[in-house]
Amino acid sequence: MSHLSQRPDDAVVGLPLPHESADLHVTGHALYTDDLVQRTPRVLHAHPVCSPHAHATVTRLDVTPALDVDGVVRVLTADDVPGINDAGVKHDEPLFPSEVMFVGHAVCWVLGETLEAARLGAEAVQVDYDPLPAVVSLTEAIAAESFQGARPVVERGDVDAALAGAAHVFEGTTEMAGQEHFYLETHASLALVDEGGQVFVQSSTQHPTETQEIVAHVLGVASHAVTVQCLRMGGGFGGKEMQPHGFAAVAALGATITGRPVRLRLDRTHDMTMTGKRHGFHATWRVGFDDDGLLVGLDTTLTSDGGWSLDLSEPVLARALCHVDNAYWIPHVRARGRVARTHKTSQTAFRGFGGPQGMLVIEDVLGRCAPLLGVDPVDLRRRNFYAEGQATPYGQPVRHPDRVVAAWEQVLASGDVVRRQAEVEAFNDSHPHRRRGLALTPVKFGISFNFTAFNQGGALVHVYKDGSVLINHGGTEMGQGLHTKMLQVAATSLGVPLERVRLAPTRTDKVPNTSATAASSSTDLNGGAVKDACEQILARLREVDGGRGLAWDDLVREAYFSRVQLWAAGFYRTEGLHWDPVAMQGHPFKYFAYGVAATEVEVDGFTGSYTTRRVDIVHDVGDSLSPLVDLGQVEGGFVQGLGWLTLEDLRWDETDGPGRGRLTTQAASTYKLPSLSELPDELHVALLDQAHEEGAVYGSKAVGEPPLMLALSVREALRQAAAAFGPAGTSVELASPATPEAVYWALDRARRTAPAPTELAEV
Ligand code: MTE
Ligand code: MOS
Repeated sequence: MSHLSQRPDDAVVGLPLPHESADLHVTGHALYTDDLVQRTPRVLHAHPVCSPHAHATVTRLDVTPALDVDGVVRVLTADDVPGINDAGVKHDEPLFPSEVMFVGHAVCWVLGETLEAARLGAEAVQVDYDPLPAVVSLTEAIAAESFQGARPVVERGDVDAALAGAAHVFEGTTEMAGQEHFYLETHASLALVDEGGQVFVQSSTQHPTETQEIVAHVLGVASHAVTVQCLRMGGGFGGKEMQPHGFAAVAALGATITGRPVRLRLDRTHDMTMTGKRHGFHATWRVGFDDDGLLVGLDTTLTSDGGWSLDLSEPVLARALCHVDNAYWIPHVRARGRVARTHKTSQTAFRGFGGPQGMLVIEDVLGRCAPLLGVDPVDLRRRNFYAEGQATPYGQPVRHPDRVVAAWEQVLASGDVVRRQAEVEAFNDSHPHRRRGLALTPVKFGISFNFTAFNQGGALVHVYKDGSVLINHGGTEMGQGLHTKMLQVAATSLGVPLERVRLAPTRTDKVPNTSATAASSSTDLNGGAVKDACEQILARLREVDGGRGLAWDDLVREAYFSRVQLWAAGFYRTEGLHWDPVAMQGHPFKYFAYGVAATEVEVDGFTGSYTTRRVDIVHDVGDSLSPLVDLGQVEGGFVQGLGWLTLEDLRWDETDGPGRGRLTTQAASTYKLPSLSELPDELHVALLDQAHEEGAVYGSKAVGEPPLMLALSVREALRQAAAAFGPAGTSVELASPATPEAVYWALDRARRTAPAPTELAEV
């Protein structure tokens, strides 16, 4: 067993501990960035002036009326920027634009003594626009060939020949909507210039290093003149990987210009209308099966709705293309990708990072084709699983495919699936206006950043003379429990009780050049680094001890007086990764995380409304570092996926009127999030047994994103229930999100299906 994955007998890792801030969370004492405003004297408040047009040139900007408003201190415009007027890493996001690209785009920012003063000031600013044509929907963008960025293709074998020779060939289109992050804490930054002249930015950011870099280039200073701290986030979900930078830069610019602290916090409507979301996707596909229902080829084109700028659209698309196979062996594949440019918010990372969209395509294909092939969907999926020795279309061998099979069988058994399938059939036969569906779907999700360089982590561990330990690492806490796991890793590797270890907030002056806390990889990366630092210290202490077996406190004291260094910087990089982004081939992932879910739903034939009766999940987290935290991630991820696939319905005004391009679902009143009543009546989650992951920190696996995709089983169950309103063999197209309305139209089409021909004709 490798050193990294080996676990001592008395390990603190593996204990079912509550989240390290659980008490603070539930009592309301946990501090978030914007809470610090109360502790900051003389703070100014920032408010944006937002574009009412989806696309327009700014022909005149007059800020002087705002300066007459009581309490307005300053209006920040492009003229104030000493460095580069851009908020993105791709340099395609002017911070103060002269051409607005979406409804809500901030033209300038007003600073006031109060938020109300800043808001009134923003209303007083005069802007003249010259409207330009706007592309609002993905369909329009495809028709207009409005694309941006690279157009990658993942290809293996000869898909044309495979489809030409396939026994059964089908083709279709699959569309899916995006998703609003709806983190409880909206975007927030608080910037000041400290006594040493250092620009200090507190930011709700998943990527403190990149926030630091953008702030530095906007201010025209070097990175060492800017420090970014992230205390914790009230959720990020990918929405704070890139999107915080511009807001932090505005706050920092305001602070350097006025000499006063500046606070920028978006209200919910601003957050929803100004910041990026999950990408909606459009896919066309042709698929071939042999007579046994085995996949022989898939030819697909995925087009994502990128919004007005690139942001993370290219890597999101790459991950989508790398997940169209999900857990299935497809010998011949051609998957092309494109990013559409539309006049909407710039869509960004969201839990799963394109993986869910890629996987939805193949699950949609299998769900629609199973009835046409006359194969039970459970059986069709199971038959097509990867086997040992097979590789993904991008050339990475699939290690441990047996774990999907193990999880599948565990769900079949624990979920009592065979008996319940018979029950579902009996129910459907005896209820004219209600139908049930029971579906199983697998998850195979690649862990690591596709881009190899990001797969590094850093840590700083201090042992003080009194034996207490303070750790810092490069990852941020957004509720996922990373800090809890890092405390457990430090306590385990130093061999001290958990109480002796304390963790300080993430800051760029403690651990530099960090990667985003993303790709579910933060425990692997930062855990590896924390362990490395602890082991350096431990090795020195062992020498001091010389086999005497001194107690920790005595040993530390003796080491200090022997002038032995009691702190260390740790580093970790994931070995064995390589990725060619042009050829779209390589070995981008350290390993795959696996899971299986079985979901049973019941649908009402009059309204399309439904309930999720029962969900059984078996998910692979390796040897769990923190079982309660992992369980929370599986449950939370699943529910967030359920929201995306069934309830959350982003609507943009696509009419030609003055509201064109406006997000019409701007608040929780019109954007439906999962609440208690939409949760499964029964939810059983088990972690896969005997899943030790060799070569990862203490044998554990990443868990943050993969469980979201278990919710595809809900969508497939709804499809099956809708199909059950038609004759046997009915293939049903289901919109995504599968809202009750969408389910109604699906079952209505099924009901109208004549017994023989099907909706999706074999071609
Ligand atoms: N869990 C909570 N509670 N809040 C979050 O914002 N973000 C998710 C996931 N789980 C998130 C979460 C996303 S998008 C990712 S990439 C991972 O956590 C990041 O953290 P990790 O690398 O520590 O898993
Ligand atoms: Mo997660 S979408 O990688 O922040």
